[in-house]
Order: sequence, then C-alpha cells, then structure tokens
Amino acid sequence: MRIVVDPSAPDVEVLRKAVAVLRASGLVAVPTETVYGLGALGTDPVALARVFAAKGRPTTHALILHVLDLDAARPLVAGVPALAERLAAAFWPGPLTMVLPRSELVPDAVTGGGPTVAIRAPSHPVVRALLRLLDAPLAAPSANRYQSVSPTRAIHVERSLGAAVDLVLDAGPCERGIESTVVDLTGPVPRILRLGAVSAEELRAVVGALEVHVHLVDPGVAHASPGLDARHYAPRGRIVFADEAEGGLARAEAVLHAEPGAKIALLLRRPPVAATPPKGCSLRVLGDDPVTYARNLYDALHDADEQGATLLIVEQVPHLPAWAAVRDRLSRASNINET
Ligand code: TXA
Ligand code: MG
Repeated sequence: MRIVVDPSAPDVEVLRKAVAVLRASGLVAVPTETVYGLGALGTDPVALARVFAAKGRPTTHALILHVLDLDAARPLVAGVPALAERLAAAFWPGPLTMVLPRSELVPDAVTGGGPTVAIRAPSHPVVRALLRLLDAPLAAPSANRYQSVSPTRAIHVERSLGAAVDLVLDAGPCERGIESTVVDLTGPVPRILRLGAVSAEELRAVVGALEVHVHLVDPGVAHASPGLDARHYAPRGRIVFADEAEGGLARAEAVLHAEPGAKIALLLRRPPVAATPPKGCSLRVLGDDPVTYARNLYDALHDADEQGATLLIVEQVPHLPAWAAVRDRLSRASNINET
C-alpha cells in the first residue's frame, strides 16, 4: 500500500501505522534525502531476513542503520572516536554513513556477521518523524531489487519491489537523488568506501587525511563493501557515452537509421542547441552541475527502463572532483571499468 505524506507536516496517524507495521516485522519504504529506503526494525532478525528476501540481496551484504542523531548511535557502536563526533557535527543529519566497530546490540543480520556497523542520521523530515516514534534504529537499504537502480520516487519502489513492501510512504522525489557517502572510521585513516552525496572534498575539509577506496571489481568477488559491485545501479538498456550533446544526437540518428525500430534514451547535461531528437529517441536534460544532475539521474534511468529503451546515450560528464560520485554511478551503470 502507498500513502502520500506531506514532508512539511507528516500525518501522525500515518506514521503510527508505519510504526505498527515495523513492530510487526513488516517492511516500510521510507523517503530519505538521498533515495527511498526499504525500512525494517533494525533489532528484529525476522524483519531483516525479509529485507534480504525482498531485495534478492545476499545476506552477507551489510545494511545501514538509520538513527535520529549521534546519541541514538552510541549504544550501537563500541565507541565513538573524536573523528566521528566531528563528522556527525558537520554532516548529520545528512547523507553521510559512518562505519564503526559494532556493539552487541546490533544483530548479525545487519552487519553480515562482520565486526562493524554502518550508521547514518538522515535529514528527511518524514523518516526523522518516523524514527522519533519508532524509538529504535531503522535498517534501510535502498528500496530496489539487488543490483538495479535505486529509487528516487515512490513509484520506482512499487515497480521494483511490488507486494514485498507492506507500506510505501510517498513524500515525492528525493532531493539528492544519489546514495549517502560511506566512510570507514575503523582504521588509522578514514576511508571512503562509497562515493555519494557528500563529496570527498567536503569530507577532507573536516577530517584532513582521507583515503578513497573505491574501485570497480567483478561482481560476485568478495570485497569490503558490496556497494562496490562493478555492475550496480544498472538500467536494463545498454549505456554508451557521447562526448557532447551533438555527438549524442548524431549517434541516435545513426542507430535509428540502421535500426528503425530501436528505442533510444538520450541523457544530456544541457538542452541541445538547435537540433531536436529524432523519432524513437527520448530526451532528458539532467543538469549542468553535479547536484542537479545527481537529483535527476536515477529518475532518468528508471524512465528509460519504463520506455523499454535498449540503448541509453549519455553525454559524458566532466572529469572534476565535484562530479566523482556521478561518474562512479554512471560507470557502474554502464559497467565500464574506469579509474
Ligand atoms: O543513501 C543511502 O545510504 C541509502 C538510504 C536509504 O539511506 N541506503 C543505501 O543502502 O544506499 P544500501 O544497503 O543500498 O547501501 C549500503 C552501503 C553498501 O555499499 C554496503 O556495502 C555498505 O553501505 N555497508 C553497509 N554496512 C557496512 C559495513 N559494516 N562495512 C562496510 N560497508 C558497509
Ligand atoms: Mg543499494
């Protein structure tokens, strides 16, 4: 069931209903500022097992626990290092996930049996209101089938997970549109395990030294963070890159000429000058700055799937640090092994 919730004044009755579903080991899809999450009571092994089943995700792939603030995180970890205090002060509530040594309160199902736990305090008012009423950590991976594109709208959740979700709280499109940045604080130097909505530069300004441990590997091979699967965030169609808008349009025309029935999605940063896309080719303009682009990217990938696009022609994005997270998602979506 899907219920619309006004983020500026979440209906308490709806939130109570969501809490009741969660306390009965049910699954509630929740809006966050990054993407929609598939929420389950983080202390309930039955609910956690349902999360993995609904997603089709291997149970070794650890989940993020969502909490209101650092105080709510303290019982879940073995200790809060000074660096975590600084990061929480700078970025929470918000799209930063911290990996810390776990406490015994965290079920094995959350951590994949590992010694660490990933925690974040989201900023979206609906999930925050829910967390206040729930008064417990909410485990929430992105609310999509394993290795498909994360949802930035409630409709994406419904299409991907269907009846496996008991309740979808629909608060409209997600503001950031790309997942949280995951940073590992268990070693001597903080390490980014997944690029995301908080950039490496923003993190570096707070922590100083920072390693970025993000590389593409073959799916199925054991690795530190399953978000690093080479094929992840992937639409059904094949992705190719074009150097600029005009090149993308020319390519679409050539493909349609050779294959008149083809369905093509063209994803550009800016509106094309003069030219219009040929018949059989849809056009989405995603934005010319990385924040706007990230907000629109997954929606455009979902759209392409919905239209049955077999080929996605994507205008290349700049090789600049601010675009790193977007580049990472694009290369995974296309399964291109780039450094
Ligand atoms: O923005 C987000 O983070 C969204 C929203 C719903 O909060 N959640 C999300 O969850 O993207 P998920 O499960 O799709 O991705 C979680 C990432 C994965 O890359 C996972 O491997 C990593 O966090 N992770 C979770 N626990 C970990 C741990 N203990 N150590 C290392 N990586 C961990
Ligand atoms: Mg995910």
